[in-house]
Amino acid sequence: MSRERDVKGGANAPASIRWRDGRLWLLDQRKLPDAVVYEEQRSARDVASSIAQMTVRGAPAIGIAAAYGMALAAKAGEPLPAAAATLIAARPTAVNLAWAVQRVLAAPSPEAAAVAIHQEDVAMCQAIGANGVGLIDDGCAALTHCNAGALAVSTLGTATAPLYLAHAAGKRFSVFVDETRPALQGARLTAWELLRAGLDVTLICDSAAAHLMAEGGIDLVIVGADRVAANGDVVNKIGTRALAIVSRYHGVPFYVALPASTFDPAAANGAAVVIEERDAGEVTGPIPAPPGVAARNPAFDVTPAELVTAWITDRGRFHTAAELGGLAA
Ligand code: MRU
Repeated sequence: MSRERDVKGGANAPASIRWRDGRLWLLDQRKLPDAVVYEEQRSARDVASSIAQMTVRGAPAIGIAAAYGMALAAKAGEPLPAAAATLIAARPTAVNLAWAVQRVLAAPSPEAAAVAIHQEDVAMCQAIGANGVGLIDDGCAALTHCNAGALAVSTLGTATAPLYLAHAAGKRFSVFVDETRPALQGARLTAWELLRAGLDVTLICDSAAAHLMAEGGIDLVIVGADRVAANGDVVNKIGTRALAIVSRYHGVPFYVALPASTFDPAAANGAAVVIEERDAGEVTGPIPAPPGVAARNPAFDVTPAELVTAWITDRGRFHTAAELGGLAA
């Protein structure tokens, strides 16, 4: 993989994925916010490894990257079913990955299909924003978890799209961002991209959310999703479930933003979704933990549908799982 430095993207954040003249570059999100560095991906295997190591992360972004990985495999004359299997195996939880790879596999032109998936993403973020912006009132305080922002998608993000559109419309509001242990997507990515866009951002420890709600300081929560099951259960970054539970206790509305490609009608409920368990070293490595201590690192959790106030999608805002089921059509 070679490197390149750059660049501008949607919502004032650098683009997480660039495809130019048949070459693929991924922003190394592990290095943010300290450095904006792009790594060229020369094969589907490179892309799979970058997805597994979270150079690129966020459900829609890993789908787009994998779609371009398929295009690279096609250009190299590699068997596409094998490339597809390698890419899909990179991370198990976000359904967008398999969705995008299978769509490219079935298409007559892998490159054209990958470019289409990437371009559709822009309109999808706008539509989610338009369907959620009415929830952001002047003077309100929103809370988000992990990064479902521009860096996780291609432009406005999903959970952040209503926030970006409300800001562009001149509304004044504040955004609280959970730091999101252990990979710190909230602190390193969401706080960074929202600040660059000029929003009023306050970073908090994950464990501070309940206290802020008890003080009456949070009006709504908006998060993204890696997969939403047929019954509306939401699989998202570890900590989302706890946030939904404390939101219900404190009477704070809990919204989930997702594109139709994140809805998985084949998963009956959250229990049917594989929860990725990552290296325990990601938990113990950055902190002064005693050598040899056991650690676990589940990357996602399941929020029961009953705790969701509404699902904000590119095709509308839905208040029941039955309405959400229309996304399968
Ligand atoms: O492990 P990550 O950083 O890929 O997890 C990302 C999330 O959990 C996001 O909330 C989700 O993918 C939605 S991104 C629009």
